[in-house]
Amino acid sequence: MARTQILAAIKNAPSYISGEELSRQLQISRSAVWKHVVALRQEGYEIEAHTRLGYRLRSASPRLLASEVLPRLTTKRLGQNYHFFASLPSTNRTAKELARQGAPEGTLVVAEEQTAGRGRLGRAWVSPRNCGIYLSLVLRPAVPLGMAAQVTLLTSVSYCRAIEQVTGLKPMIKWPNDVLLSGKKICGILTEVHAEMEAVNYLIVGIGMNVNHQGADFPEEVRPVATSLALEAGKTVDSTQLLLAFLACLEADYDRWLSDGFGSIREQWLARAAGLGRPVQIVAGQRQWQGRLASIDEEGALLVTDTDGATHRVYSGEVSI
Ligand code: BTN
Repeated sequence: MARTQILAAIKNAPSYISGEELSRQLQISRSAVWKHVVALRQEGYEIEAHTRLGYRLRSASPRLLASEVLPRLTTKRLGQNYHFFASLPSTNRTAKELARQGAPEGTLVVAEEQTAGRGRLGRAWVSPRNCGIYLSLVLRPAVPLGMAAQVTLLTSVSYCRAIEQVTGLKPMIKWPNDVLLSGKKICGILTEVHAEMEAVNYLIVGIGMNVNHQGADFPEEVRPVATSLALEAGKTVDSTQLLLAFLACLEADYDRWLSDGFGSIREQWLARAAGLGRPVQIVAGQRQWQGRLASIDEEGALLVTDTDGATHRVYSGEVSI
């Protein structure tokens, strides 16, 4: 508490604020003030300490600390229950535990590093420190189980909109949810559903965002197919700004989906769709076939036209463009 107050006082001071003034305001000793300043520096805040003048904030922490994110959050639900970790095995795992204990809709788990990050189809998601944003959201939509997969499509649209706002880059989406820049993947989305009978109880939407990775930060085998926002923009991207923009876009899109259904998101998805009209290969289970990417339907299923001109609905599988 004292630390939060010290940070606020240093942030709000027009210039330097003396140790004496801080100790008077907070009713603690000057050495206690100093200990908090040391701890804040360890959290990434650059605080100047001058023997005569006192303390001054040179720059805020670039980390996704609650003290940086919460005061700037514009959403009503998403992210308001905020859990930040320097390291976790997997944010999806932690979010699931919180959801089981009754965590409210919008609960957000963010980690700076994952030691056992999970991807789709049982793959690992390598999640090194100081590169990406690894997060999971608890959502509790009152919808039938059949609509749950639409949340993944919706999340990819929201993330594209956030990237466009923050970086000016123009990402594309490969069905169902791969977000691409220069044809390479810049994020992965893993949605896990907990349902009872036909109704969704809760969803965990996990996203691994490749933000400030350099080439060497990716495992060698994914280097040819992965990129990051920093690599594409040619500069470091502000993770806090990106996270805030994403949560705002997702809340707006999610609320529209809850009230108006998937049709409202479909247009936005199609506007960013990669490979429309192009030949594709579909791998669904043991079956592989060629077709032409036509569209997605009102429910989010992929529409693929085969060589005889017949259109097929694809509900799951991998698509290669
Ligand atoms: C994919 O295979 O494309 C999906 C990858 C999803 C990775 C994210 S990182 C945050 C969350 N926690 C996990 O363990 N996985 C997801």
